[in-house]
Amino acid sequence: MHRFRRAIVPAILCVATVAVPAPRVAAAPEASPVVARWYAADQVRRGALIYAASCARCHGGRAEGAPGWREPLPTGYLRPPPLDASGHAWEHRFEELVDIVSEGGAATSGIMPPFRETLAEGDQHAVIAWFQSLWPDAVYQAWLQAPGCSAPAPAESAAAP
Ligand code: HEC
Repeated sequence: MHRFRRAIVPAILCVATVAVPAPRVAAAPEASPVVARWYAADQVRRGALIYAASCARCHGGRAEGAPGWREPLPTGYLRPPPLDASGHAWEHRFEELVDIVSEGGAATSGIMPPFRETLAEGDQHAVIAWFQSLWPDAVYQAWLQAPGCSAPAPAESAAAP
């Protein structure tokens, strides 16, 4: 639990650390402003497959979380929270999201398995891209501007396997 709490402690404010890429996720109409995302459409597509195979059984088909997720289980373990905008995944910096996916919940006495052995780094990034694609622009922007936030440079993420 400790690791998840730490994310909320304000650190360095990181505003606009992301080089603004040409948004490749969707061609938006001129009139609607688009917050540029760090990932590309192919990462989101790959992430959706990975999510369905590895995460949906706990976090729900559309990342809506387990029913009653705010209440811990009788064992004291947390229930899988939503990863869409209805939860608080957006309060975690990118590195923390990767760390959670990679290491799972063992260190926090949770039930989430670690994925470091089964998902390559690029796949971990892709699955994060997928659930971030569910976040409306306002939530994504809040994530970008949150204390200590960071996102991979678009070029770097595109180069990931
Ligand atoms: C066996 C069930 C289970 C599976 C499978 C699972 N998770 Fe989790 N996940 C949890 C639980 C429970 C938590 C709450 C924290 C804890 O227990 O460690 C959690 C927490 C998280 C968090 C932190 C969310 C927050 O708001 O703090 C992220 C991000 C996450 N999981 C992503 C994933 C991804 C991505 C996958 C698939 C690659 C996945 N999880 C697979 C159960 C699971």
